[in-house]
Parts: sequence; C-alpha cells; structure tokens
Amino acid sequence: MMSVKMLTMGIIAFGIIFAINSCKHQIPVIDNGNPGGVSGLPGSTGKTCSTDSVYFANEIFPLISSTCAMSGCHDAATHKEGVNLSTYANIMRYVVPGSATSSKLYREIVKTGSERMPPPPMAAWTSDQVAKLTKWINQGAANNACDKCDTTDYKYSTAIKTLMQNKCQGCHNPALLGGNIDLSTYTGVKAVAVNGKLYGSITWAAGFSQMPKGGIKMADCEIAQVKKWIDAGSPNN
Ligand code: HEC
Repeated sequence: MMSVKMLTMGIIAFGIIFAINSCKHQIPVIDNGNPGGVSGLPGSTGKTCSTDSVYFANEIFPLISSTCAMSGCHDAATHKEGVNLSTYANIMRYVVPGSATSSKLYREIVKTGSERMPPPPMAAWTSDQVAKLTKWINQGAANNACDKCDTTDYKYSTAIKTLMQNKCQGCHNPALLGGNIDLSTYTGVKAVAVNGKLYGSITWAAGFSQMPKGGIKMADCEIAQVKKWIDAGSPNN
C-alpha cells in the first residue's frame, strides 16, 4: 500500500515538474481558430461598454489567450492535463457562473508558489486581472462583448499600459521575449512606438506581423488610443 502511495506521489511530483518545465520559456501560440463564438470585434457589437460589467471578448479572453491557452500549455493542440482553454465553451468547463470561488479556473490562478497558474517563471495575474475575472464570473460568466471607446484617455499609465498588460505581455515579457520585444516596461513599449512596429502590428498593416499574434484584433477604439499616444510623442505620462 505504502509503495503504491509513494509511487503515485512521485508521479504527481514528476507531472508538476514536467508541467512547469514544458511551459517555460516558450513563446505562446494562441489557438484562436474558434474563439468560442466571440464575434464582431473590433467595433461591431453596437453595445457600449458599461463600467459596471466585465466582458469576455474584451478582457477575459485576451488575458486567458496570452497567459494560459498557449502552445505547450492549454491550447487546443497541447491541452496540458486535458485542459484546453482556447475557446469560450472550453473555458466554461472550469467556471461555475456566479461563483468565482467555486470555479477551478479562478482557484488555479490564485494559488501561490509553484502550484499557481500560470506557473513560475511566468508572471502571476495581477490583483487587478484577478478582480476582473472574479467580477466576470460572479456576473454570470457570459460570452459577452462591447465596444470600448474611451479614446479621450490615451495616457500611458491609465490606457496604454493596461492594454499591453491584458493583450500583449503574455508573450512580450522578460521571460518570454516574442520577437525580442518586451512590452512590460515603458521603455520597451516606447521603442516599438518610435520605430513604427507597434502601430503597424496592431493595425495588421502590410509588412508587419499581426498582433496580438493569433488573437482577436484590438478594437478600433483601442487602436485609436494607441495612435493618439504615439502621435503625442509616446510620453511616459
Ligand atoms: C501569443 C503571443 C503573442 C501575443 C499575445 C502578442 N505577440 Fe507580438 N509577437 C509575438 C511573436 C512570437 C513575435 C515575433 C515573431 C513575429 O513577428 O511574428 C511578435 C512580434 C511583435 C512585434 C514585431 C512585429 C514586426 O512586424 O516586426 C510587435 C511590434 C509586437 N509583437 C507587438 C505586440 C503587441 C502590441 C501585442 C498586443 C496587442 C502583441 N504583440 C501580442 C507573439 C505575441
């Protein structure tokens, strides 16, 4: 009995180490072939964003895509430990609408140490991101979307930084330098703003890689925010 138990524990420990190692230092590839029926972004939902709500297509899906549903982890091809987080339907297998604390997705993300998802050395979700997920689940975890159009806010600290955090940093951080680009610091974002690659890539212009890679194009209003910030000289404001 004892040896079976020890063997099981060994296998579990190996599994955890393997899971951590195989996700480490890999540039995520978003599998967005079927983003769970999310449609209409950018700019065609016709529904204005309410500040009281959190929307799946605008905030939750991009976050999960760039931090969980990547190659080697929870994309459709790898589906590590059977977990595939690349579509709304699949994500909902780990969500109990109305109760974040009963949802496996939430519980994995708020774990600490090597247990948490995404596993170290990938960054843990920020408290802000966790709060978004919590609110979205507690509001019923709908497959919802809205047009986000606050183009009057184009400050780095309040608008641009958050956009990068939620849609780009999963692949562009010191541990995972997609294209050798770090979008987790002002300096890194400023560099691609100045060389034209930021605007070229998010507008899917010819000659640039389409960003977020494999994901949903940023909403028109978000692109407008980035453009205004770049046109203002991409200040650290
Ligand atoms: C799923 C991973 C992933 C996400 C999410 C992602 N990127 Fe990238 N990005 C990459 C990889 C990998 C490269 C380098 C290879 C390439 O150009 O396709 C890259 C390249 C780039 C480049 C250089 C493009 C060029 O044509 O030289 C820019 C700029 C960029 N990303 C910006 C962004 C921005 C801004 C976002 C968020 C809106 C973003 N990325 C989201 C993976 C990602």
